[in-house]
Amino acid sequence: MNIVEIIAKKRDGHELTHDELQYFVQGYTRGEIPDYQASAWCMAVVLKGMTAAEATAYTMLLAQSGDMLDLHEIAPFVVDKHSTGGVGDKTTLVVAPLVASHGLPVGKMSGRGLGFSGGTVDKLESIRGFETSLTTEGFLDMLSKHGVVVSGQSADLAPADGKLYALRDVTATVESLPLIAGSIMSKKIASGADAIVLDVKVGQGAFMKTEADAVELAHLMIAIGEGVGRKVAAVIADMDQPLGNAVGNALEVREAMSTLHGEGPPDFVEHCLTVGGKMLDLADKASGLKEAKAMLAESLENGSAWAKFVEWITAQGGDPTVLNDPDQLPAAPLIETVYASHPGHIATLNAIEVGLTSVMLGGGRVKKSDQIDYSVGIVHHAKIGDHIQKGDPLLTIHANNNDTLAAARERLLAAITWSDVPIVPPPHIRQIIG
Ligand code: URA
Repeated sequence: MNIVEIIAKKRDGHELTHDELQYFVQGYTRGEIPDYQASAWCMAVVLKGMTAAEATAYTMLLAQSGDMLDLHEIAPFVVDKHSTGGVGDKTTLVVAPLVASHGLPVGKMSGRGLGFSGGTVDKLESIRGFETSLTTEGFLDMLSKHGVVVSGQSADLAPADGKLYALRDVTATVESLPLIAGSIMSKKIASGADAIVLDVKVGQGAFMKTEADAVELAHLMIAIGEGVGRKVAAVIADMDQPLGNAVGNALEVREAMSTLHGEGPPDFVEHCLTVGGKMLDLADKASGLKEAKAMLAESLENGSAWAKFVEWITAQGGDPTVLNDPDQLPAAPLIETVYASHPGHIATLNAIEVGLTSVMLGGGRVKKSDQIDYSVGIVHHAKIGDHIQKGDPLLTIHANNNDTLAAARERLLAAITWSDVPIVPPPHIRQIIG
């Protein structure tokens, strides 16, 4: 067996055997296969795809390249969720304590933001003292004592994916359904959860631009997870406009806190109840999604989800005074509300433009090494379908200097399109699979 033959076999559209995939994954991880041959292999997969059997074998080889956590000594059934990423996506901050407040352990490893898409780890770090770099022991200890833990991705889990993802990022080979599915599912499988809810976003502000692609990715990830004995479901959700109202790290933490007090924006609340409800449903904690959502809605109202959030954040080192007084979260020096100059109906609110504006304000990274400003971002006061009068507030910009504030104002106004006739907003949840 040699790597040139394996690349050529995939280039010609043939199915690779388990041993050939193993030769590639192990050879690249050990540094025996150079980047130029690994890039050629990735591009061959982008162009020729993989069968379901290949995708499952490839995923397990990535997962087995590092530690495989077994959480069963800690709890008989642990759930996890994964979002494919988007703008204003603070779902984990609400769903993890919400689901854990029903006695169902949630163990989750999350990523940082890159490009227009924010990351849960960055959002959590805007809470003074919150520790996201947990060792495996620290992760397991939090899970056993508090039934909820969210940490950064451990370098010991699926290291082959870490190396391959960095290569794909710079060789235009991210956009392949089997490579994305393998990358995501290898990390989820290695981190040990029994059930995984995939939060697959579709639209302008998401990796998947069409519902057909999102559904195909979801089916592939479900098949891979089920193939290795995990329960998996997918929620396909809209990402044409930002999720909720807030975009930016500390602003999103504040919105998550309001949501846990029962005062969240309707689309975000619906999203959290659906994703969290599916997690309860997969764990057989409810008779179906409808009952699970009602149980979760009750815990947002009665304070039990908030109490679990406070326990979790405090146990992971977060300063509890910030939780009692959100004004202690990082705050931008310049805050400006932009008002409508004419009446009309909001027709579109381009999520990717909003995400890129948040990055431009300093809230995200262009390179992995960039420092971020937790305080900056945008809060929307109007979303698609809203009827606006002249002088109504459209959005508030939180900035750290006048130049980026002015540029953000211009860019955000251009991200909105208007209609003279009423607009029916698109449904937020498009499909639930599994
Ligand atoms: N997220 C991942 O973790 N991997 C991909 O390939 C794409 C999105």
